[in-house]
Amino acid sequence: MTSIVGRLCSLRPYRPEDVDALVRNANDPEVARGLTDRFPVPYTEADAREWISACENRSPGQEFLAVEVQGEAAGGVGFGIIDEVHPRTAMIGYWLGRRYWNRGIMTEAVTLATAHAFENRGVIRMEAGVYPWNKASTRVLEKAGYQFETILRARLFKAGQPYDEHFYAKIAGG
Ligand SMILES: CC(C)(COP(=O)(O)OP(=O)(O)OC[C@H]1O[C@@H](n2cnc3c(N)ncnc32)[C@H](O)[C@@H]1OP(=O)(O)O)[C@@H](O)C(=O)NCCC(=O)NCCS
Repeated sequence: MTSIVGRLCSLRPYRPEDVDALVRNANDPEVARGLTDRFPVPYTEADAREWISACENRSPGQEFLAVEVQGEAAGGVGFGIIDEVHPRTAMIGYWLGRRYWNRGIMTEAVTLATAHAFENRGVIRMEAGVYPWNKASTRVLEKAGYQFETILRARLFKAGQPYDEHFYAKIAGG
């Protein structure tokens, strides 16, 4: 895959030279606040290098793309097939550096990534799970055509605490 070009951002594979931009945009507790404990805090150069290398060696059914804005990797969007029991259901995740928030960028990125998964990767159902406090992410999903489905109680875990997961999905052709 080369890149998916939108009006506000482009989606493209991570590159080794993204390390500085990733640290600049990801090393922020306000970004990590909406994400699971897998997202490092602080986010160091070593974390960025490890992430870029992991993306190069991803499993089939997974795709992790940089969200490029103004020539830099400003964030990321990725999806992966859940498991072999749900072979055409994927889950999406995303983040964006704080300096770029509230310009519609992630709504476009999620819309493009979801369409790409439906059209080119055989996905028929894309799911997203959101922490209860994450109003911005909820809006992104709504604006990208996802529907709220349910609240899965105590399904998320963060900093030693369980949290309800607000569950959204979008169906191909739906
Ligand atoms: C969630 C996130 C990706 C949104 O990216 P973004 O590019 O700013 O999103 P958009 O600009 O496309 O849309 C944001 C929407 O949320 C709204 N919003 C922002 N903060 C809000 C808040 N505290 N309460 C209610 N709505 C809020 C904005 O007004 C906008 O909606 P509008 O267009 O109706 O006005 C970004 O905030 C982020 O990276 N957060 C940290 C990581 C994260 O939470 N990832 C998602 C995990 S599920």
